[in-house]
Amino acid sequence: MRTLTNGIMQQNLQQVLGTVVAASSNLTSEAEHYRINNLLARNWGFNFYLAPRLIEYAKWLESSDERSNFTYPLKNLHHLKGWLAVVTGSKISDADRVVHEIFDDDWLVSELVQASLKHGCPLDANGFRAHRAALYGRRIGWYGIVRLKKPRLVIETGVDRGLGSAILCRALMRNSDEGFIGEYLGTDINPRAGHLLSESLAQFGRIAYGDSIDTLKAVESTIDIFINDSDHSAQYEADEYDVITDKLSDRSIVLGDNSHATDKLFQFAVRCGKQFLHFAEQPEGHWYPGAGIGAAF
Ligand SMILES: C[S@@+](CC[C@H](N)C(=O)[O-])C[C@H]1O[C@@H](n2cnc3c(N)ncnc32)[C@H](O)[C@@H]1O
Repeated sequence: MRTLTNGIMQQNLQQVLGTVVAASSNLTSEAEHYRINNLLARNWGFNFYLAPRLIEYAKWLESSDERSNFTYPLKNLHHLKGWLAVVTGSKISDADRVVHEIFDDDWLVSELVQASLKHGCPLDANGFRAHRAALYGRRIGWYGIVRLKKPRLVIETGVDRGLGSAILCRALMRNSDEGFIGEYLGTDINPRAGHLLSESLAQFGRIAYGDSIDTLKAVESTIDIFINDSDHSAQYEADEYDVITDKLSDRSIVLGDNSHATDKLFQFAVRCGKQFLHFAEQPEGHWYPGAGIGAAF
């Protein structure tokens, strides 16, 4: 590892040690001896839990160029499949099937690669294929919900590059091949957002540009699946849930990308008499503790 990374890691550790105030000891030497032995015995937690995280952090510092929206494969994909089955009321074998369906989808990969090329930020198709599980992340759960519930209207607030849009429209495309027609509406305040939504996929939905709350106020159809992923402040999240409450269909599922950080979706579920279940990501080989998907259903 380079000297610079070593130096930063040393600074990090010194910062941690600086917060541990050494207590002056007036113990007898026997008690002091016991205390030291006990301390050494209890230190197993460092090797077992903390050192792997610190090593992952140092490696990431050295080799990654990501600053936020980290990508990583999931250690606990089986938890996601179990969560999907419970939230949609499906058989676990069906949840397993739709998760593998998106992993095996080479057509989707080529759409994403083409769309990104057109936008001037080329994606390497083989690299994308190899890392798609990491790049799709928890959106795999969004895909599964749409495939299993066959919604008529799916809304995602905050589309960014449009990876969620593309995945959700792909799910609607497959639903339509099976005779279930549905549409997607994405919202984003950034007029340049959504470049990954290719022409073929955009047949299943569109992006409305502007403030998400304004767009949601204008929605007239009933919403089956709602995904909150725009402004991540707790107040804005709560405001989005308030605006859509009376627009939800009886079989609606509301997903939150902020549920690892706030209790707003849980509070919404309590108010609406819905169930609540959070899927918590366990990133593989990454120091980030993971986000998740909250579901009110
Ligand atoms: C975390 S990103 C969305 C990621 C996306 N859902 C995906 O699957 O990749 C958040 C997005 O919300 C948008 N945003 C922030 N505040 C907003 C607002 N008030 N109304 C609409 N979009 C907003 C940002 O421009 C950004 O693109």
